[in-house]
Amino acid sequence: MRVLGIAGSPRREGNSEILLDRFLEGARSKGASAIKVVACEKKIFPCLGCGCCHAGPCPLKDEMGEILDLLRQCEVVAIAAPVYFSGLPAPLKTLIDRCQPLWVEKYLQGRVRPERKGYFFNTGARNSPDTFIGSLETAKALFFTLDLAWSGKLLAPGLDGKGEILSRPSLLEQAEKMGSNFDF
Ligand SMILES: Cc1cc2nc3c(=O)[nH]c(=O)nc-3n(C[C@H](O)[C@H](O)[C@H](O)COP(=O)(O)O)c2cc1C
Repeated sequence: MRVLGIAGSPRREGNSEILLDRFLEGARSKGASAIKVVACEKKIFPCLGCGCCHAGPCPLKDEMGEILDLLRQCEVVAIAAPVYFSGLPAPLKTLIDRCQPLWVEKYLQGRVRPERKGYFFNTGARNSPDTFIGSLETAKALFFTLDLAWSGKLLAPGLDGKGEILSRPSLLEQAEKMGSNFDF
């Protein structure tokens, strides 16, 4: 079983990445092969909306090709990110927009993919009912396009300082449990 974790925060080892690491540790403890991609460390140019991927390869030459291959191959995809201005941070959103070739495969080429599992971890400073609305909608749209069944989410409000999540051990346990709960 291949598990891909995408760390979406530009702040390394922050709250959302700590949750993702716990999830991946849980998966590894069950024998999964888990890979972590850190969005802000990858060279990914923004989608040009040129439509080239509708008929052929994307003209942008960067590291997105290998990420698309991982997204095609992995049976489990987990995305972790903070809320930024009610949405997702730019490096992760850029990666998501560049998933348009996968949209083309599904909707224009009719390629059928087996359903996989998708997990979403989201941290935010605010403690309000609408903190996660924007980021959740984007994650749902991505998971739908990638045929990732919405298998679990962890929304952690009221967290701002780097590593503050370490003082919420129940969230860390939940993340690890989600990762170790598969029947591999
Ligand atoms: C540019 C920026 C925008 C932010 N926007 C929001 C926001 O709209 N709502 C919110 O609840 N928190 C917001 N935050 C706070 C982060 O979501 C919060 O600190 C989160 O726990 C950081 O997670 P990380 O350590 O994984 O980066 C913002 C932080 C930054 C730096």
